[in-house]
Amino acid sequence: MAPTDWLSSWRTPLLLLLLILTFCFSSESASTTPFPKDLEAINVVNSEQSYQYPGFQGLLQDNDTLRLGLDFQRMLRINHMLYIAARDHVFAVNLTTASEEFVPQLKLTWKSKDVSKCTVRGKNRDECYNYVKVLVPRNDETLFACGTNAFNPTCRNYKMMSMEQVGEEVVGQARCPFESGQSNVGLFAGGDFYSATMTDFLASDAVIYRSLGEGRPVLRTVKYDSKWLREPHFLHAIDYGNYVYFFLSEIAVEYTALGKVVFSRVARVCKNDNGGSPRVLERYWTSFLKARLNCSVPGDSFFYFDVLQSLTNVLQINQRPAVVGVFTTQANSIPGSAVCAFYMDDIEKVFNGKFKEQRTSDSSWTPVPDEQVPRPRPGTCAGDGPAADYKSSVQFPDETLTFIKSYPLMDEAVPSVNDRPCFTRTSSRYDTENKCPLSSSVSDLVL
Ligand SMILES: *[C@@H]1O[C@H](CO)[C@@H](O)[C@H](O)[C@H]1NC(C)=O
Ligand SMILES: *[C@@H]1O[C@H](CO)[C@@H](O)[C@H](O)[C@H]1NC(C)=O
Ligand SMILES: *[C@@H]1O[C@H](CO)[C@@H](O)[C@H](O)[C@H]1NC(C)=O
Repeated sequence: MAPTDWLSSWRTPLLLLLLILTFCFSSESASTTPFPKDLEAINVVNSEQSYQYPGFQGLLQDNDTLRLGLDFQRMLRINHMLYIAARDHVFAVNLTTASEEFVPQLKLTWKSKDVSKCTVRGKNRDECYNYVKVLVPRNDETLFACGTNAFNPTCRNYKMMSMEQVGEEVVGQARCPFESGQSNVGLFAGGDFYSATMTDFLASDAVIYRSLGEGRPVLRTVKYDSKWLREPHFLHAIDYGNYVYFFLSEIAVEYTALGKVVFSRVARVCKNDNGGSPRVLERYWTSFLKARLNCSVPGDSFFYFDVLQSLTNVLQINQRPAVVGVFTTQANSIPGSAVCAFYMDDIEKVFNGKFKEQRTSDSSWTPVPDEQVPRPRPGTCAGDGPAADYKSSVQFPDETLTFIKSYPLMDEAVPSVNDRPCFTRTSSRYDTENKCPLSSSVSDLVL
């Protein structure tokens, strides 16, 4: 197999999204064409053209790279430095000089010491490496990195400027997945590390987790509770206002008529969440809420693009904070892709709306009547709005905590900007197959 020219493989979708964005919000007419008629692309960059740009394939002399390729995992841009997390290595490229030649200015090598143990366990030998799955700024000088470390996830801190390790290693479980193929997101907000990943080897326990902060307890989502998370695929996390938002796709609990159907969600937690009382939700989130993202084409028969593939950070659309996502159809349906935008205040509105419940195990899901919602309103941050009288979430009454434990799902879906995709495309999926890393990197790089 030829070494993967990853740079040219992601450049095309990246440019495409940029073009789409320009197109979406500058032209009102874009919003009137219903699916399945494709919109005309303004410009298409093909792979031949993208080869004209400098590329990076990893360590050309390295036997592992020759066999497995670069195994690109994450990309992080800080000012003019681009950090590329891959298998056993992190590369730092100075973008000031990268327009002609793509040569890393620094290279960090971090290999697993436990490879023999890993191979003895009879695991897929290609996983017996250190796939660097987390690479985020911890503060102005430090990068926080976690790797799968041959099924023994581990985290370290590095100096941004020199890539020298600082301090001790910490356990990576619940911060970093065990395998390269498992999804994860992570970010620091207010000194705490928020992560969403699988916490175990078998990927049966998915978690949204907070740790490493000073003075705040470690919190997580309720274990093995499909109302909280059901086979999630984590795409992005955003620190915004009083909350950290997580964007993911998962198997819908509320829609089972057609077997397993994937829905896309926005979930959020309060940054000042301290967990519940010793009676209810101690050491679990008291503020975890989630809602469906509605990326659909209106018309006589609705058409939904339910599988989120990639999402930007918060940007401005019509002078309003918003996020933009690439969605596809369900894997087993006709191929189609769409770009939908969502205003942050529409997300907020849905989180302030009705909750969803299933009265009996075989009935359909319906909104919870207002009079059944306890006070302070479940999901509120302590000290805020209806919970202004509560200094900490540990003081919330049992009714509020018990409610949020059972009803984290909101009734309404978040509407997209203009109630329709700003771009649709039939017969193709803009997804992350072929290891095309379209995920958070798009926002890091372009937006
Ligand atoms: C790479 O592979 C070649 C040929 O199999 C071998 O001779 C060489 O020692 C290997 N290099 C390393 C660093 O393992
Ligand atoms: C990147 O390269 C430019 C030009 O060579 C240099 O001035 C700058 O200091 C470099 N940046 C870093 C972070 O090393
Ligand atoms: C999604 O949005 C469309 C267009 O506004 C709307 O008609 C439809 O009811 C929404 N679906 C859900 C599940 O809210």
